[in-house]
Amino acid sequence: MSTSPDSVQRFRHAWWKDAVAYQIYPRSFMDSNGDGIGDLPGILARLDYLQWLGVDVIWICPIYRSPNDDNGYDVSDYQAIMAEFGTMADFDRLLSEVHRRGMRLILDLVLNHTSDEHAWFVESRTSPESPKRDWYIWRDGKTDGKAGGPPNNWESIFGGPAWELDEASGQYFLHLFSRRQPDLNWECAPMREALYGMVRWWLDKGIDGFRLDAVSHIRKAPGLPDMPNPKGRAQVPCFPLHMNVDGVLDHLDALCEHTFRHYDVMTVGEANGVGPAEAVEWVGERRRRLDMIFQFEHLALWSRNPRAGLDVAGLKRVFGAWQKALGGQGWNALFIENHDIPRVVSLWGDVEQHWRDSATALATVYFLLQGTPFIYQGQEIGMTNTVFDGIADFDDVLARNRWQERVAAGERPADVLADLAITARDNARTPMQWSAAPGAGFTTGTPWLKPNPNHARINVAAQEADPDSVLNYYRRLIGLRKAERVLVEGAYHPLMASHRQIYAYCRGEGAGRLVVIVNLGKRPARYCHAGLMLAHEGLLLANLPVAPHAPRDSLQLRPYEARVYRVGAR
Ligand code: GLC
Ligand code: CA
Repeated sequence: MSTSPDSVQRFRHAWWKDAVAYQIYPRSFMDSNGDGIGDLPGILARLDYLQWLGVDVIWICPIYRSPNDDNGYDVSDYQAIMAEFGTMADFDRLLSEVHRRGMRLILDLVLNHTSDEHAWFVESRTSPESPKRDWYIWRDGKTDGKAGGPPNNWESIFGGPAWELDEASGQYFLHLFSRRQPDLNWECAPMREALYGMVRWWLDKGIDGFRLDAVSHIRKAPGLPDMPNPKGRAQVPCFPLHMNVDGVLDHLDALCEHTFRHYDVMTVGEANGVGPAEAVEWVGERRRRLDMIFQFEHLALWSRNPRAGLDVAGLKRVFGAWQKALGGQGWNALFIENHDIPRVVSLWGDVEQHWRDSATALATVYFLLQGTPFIYQGQEIGMTNTVFDGIADFDDVLARNRWQERVAAGERPADVLADLAITARDNARTPMQWSAAPGAGFTTGTPWLKPNPNHARINVAAQEADPDSVLNYYRRLIGLRKAERVLVEGAYHPLMASHRQIYAYCRGEGAGRLVVIVNLGKRPARYCHAGLMLAHEGLLLANLPVAPHAPRDSLQLRPYEARVYRVGAR
């Protein structure tokens, strides 16, 4: 053990701190029956691959019954499996096969909204007198000014007004996401009780936890007042009146108390709008709320200007603030990709000149921070953004809404298409590239979304066989994190904090600490930290060949070069 006695004492052990997690987007992962849609038996067929990779925890995006307006994030029955994905018997088999391999399984929990086809909403909609009317957020239109306008000026995160008129009753219901995803009313106690019961039903089945979708939105500002800047929705910080609003932690406490606190599970909340200053309130160990949250500040570096490339100093600032805020008090969820953002190597790497090296360099930087690393399917083979020939190639409700909005506002379709091509969530949702076969080895049928044409070159089969592949580098990275306790427990100490290309840090203190050194730029760069001696025998991992060298405290790094050293006793 190489951490100081102080940090060891503060370290509370939990299985999910040691774990490496892998996110599956089930529609695109593996199709077992040739209908072009990924499914549960398909996941089962790939468990050996995930085990070989070194994955401990699998998170599967929603698999519940759903009309698929937002690919499963619109749930019509929380306790049934989407027919396209299989049956509950398939799920039970999957869970037991995951457990048999010593891995764990967590599900996506969508508690902010349901589908408009959920029985609760269908009943709620029947009339203002319905006993379930109050389970959703219904309001009369504004009566001042022109009659019939929505109750307030809130905009949907997916575009357009956040209110939909129900012709029959003349009232509006709130939907922060698509109009087919009505928001649940968390101020309604019987509704909350129904959710708790559903959550316990899954936990009693033996799953190992949840990722909580959009959980910072479950509380809305009392009275639902107008927003000063509803159009500011695409910016962070945004949505001040329905995101991380006062009182949201009370809802969270009640949820935890009725469910998670009574099980040995892991929870990770999607907590858009929560900053490092408040993070301890969400995941501080003493609070007994969530174990981790996904934060979005590093993604904001990109979304503010998608064409700008990576701001390395900004990335260090954001990750550093989170490492510091939670060090010794809570736990970070580490990620650079998911199903809601384009591919990281296309965003922040260099797919033209340095595809392999930039994919492995980015991997090294985030993976060895303190926290539980998450890998999004395909990230481990360096999957890139895809090619869209026209709006018909997009599936995502968000992309289609944006297209309509912008084209209707008079923008040139070609410009809108060019923007969507680099920002669209569909970039991350193309089928997993298992092989060079037609259908990318994902399906023998016609895939629901066109595979990226580069699957002929970038695929699992080719990379398994190549010791220098992105895939085999991820395997080594996972192996290193498991072999070195200091990578789990050791504190984070930044080096060269303001350098514009190099991202370097130490984990732990004193003899045996590790130093991670990565050049995130297209040009060579010089690393130096006086007195921290790097010996060739201490080199634990590198993404490029390194010639034997004498102990030294500075290194000339090639573009996107990454190295990890153990620092000897001094
Ligand atoms: C979360 C999900 C996203 C979904 C949205 C609405 O942000 O990650 O995919 O569209 O919530 O449920
Ligand atoms: Ca299928």
